[in-house]
Amino acid sequence: MLSLMKNSIDIFQCPVCYGELAIEDEYVICVENKHRFDIVDDIPLMFVEGSDGEYSDRITQKVKLFYEENPFPNYDESDNPGLLIAKAESSVFAKLLNDELPFNIRILEVGCGTGQMTNYLSLAHRYVFGVDLSLNSLLSANNFKKRNSLKRSSFYQMNLFKPVFKVESFHAVICNGVLHHTHEAYAGLRVITKLIKKGGYIILGLYNRYGRLFTNIRRTIFSMTGSRLHFLDAYLRRQDITYSKKKTWYLDQYENPYETTHTFGEVLGWFEQTGIEFISSIPEIGNILPLSDDYKLFSKKSRGNIITRLISQLAMPFLTNKEGGFFIMIGRKK
Ligand SMILES: C[S@@+](CC[C@H](N)C(=O)[O-])C[C@H]1O[C@@H](n2cnc3c(N)ncnc32)[C@H](O)[C@@H]1O
Repeated sequence: MLSLMKNSIDIFQCPVCYGELAIEDEYVICVENKHRFDIVDDIPLMFVEGSDGEYSDRITQKVKLFYEENPFPNYDESDNPGLLIAKAESSVFAKLLNDELPFNIRILEVGCGTGQMTNYLSLAHRYVFGVDLSLNSLLSANNFKKRNSLKRSSFYQMNLFKPVFKVESFHAVICNGVLHHTHEAYAGLRVITKLIKKGGYIILGLYNRYGRLFTNIRRTIFSMTGSRLHFLDAYLRRQDITYSKKKTWYLDQYENPYETTHTFGEVLGWFEQTGIEFISSIPEIGNILPLSDDYKLFSKKSRGNIITRLISQLAMPFLTNKEGGFFIMIGRKK
């Protein structure tokens, strides 16, 4: 039980007082101040409220409730490691990530949801720690892990504003589609970049202010017309996806209790202020064509200028619209 946590207990800290943690039979305990965290189905429950005040806690609670009710992205009953690989690799991003991340490294996925990426990356000999607010999402992630005897993924309930890991513990931190559901994405980035080792990577996915345009228009249309015009969304039109996965997508995209949108320029500014060097992005800045086959996520690309960044973002609704206007920025900790 909890073998990955036991083997790396030195990177863990109490989310309340930052003291050392120890694992007892039925709970995790803080050595110094005896803060105690239950374990459910091998998942330590270490969620604690943030310390940024009532407004941020209200958003965290709303988002938590939403994802407890609607775990995202969810599994189909027939999913197995083969299908997990096939589905992950239908996304260019996941395939590139898996091809380029070295083996035997320690990765943290913040806001892992139902753990597809965490489980997928762990298949190729990497130690991957998935954390999320939503226990129901984590139970589903862990259920997949157990059913398929995966050994190198593990899951923890945690609020990203109150990490259960010490600074500089990970070679890479992945945070996809998460910070735009928090009270302040930049505040979240400041916390999670501290967890990266020097020379390690942040892989950050956010909604783009321009890329999200058509989703916002569709949200307005759907709120006025009900489900009749759901075919306007490319994902909801697909024939190869179950009703339950479509429902999960619909709720996440159109009924989410809180989301913000961001730009390349904004994230570049955040990177500078948190000691992160820009490495690359999807879509590529200054290139409105699809990524070429030999695109490398971890080799340095141009950060462009205000005009090229704007052009890339204005093109997003037309090129990447089916992903809901999502962009990914990769940076290296200096
Ligand atoms: C849209 S889902 C993304 C899931 C997964 N990263 C993916 O790309 O499929 C957003 C996830 O962020 C989690 N989340 C939101 N705020 C969080 C916070 N403060 N701490 C930890 N997880 C959070 C939610 O519970 C949810 O599972």
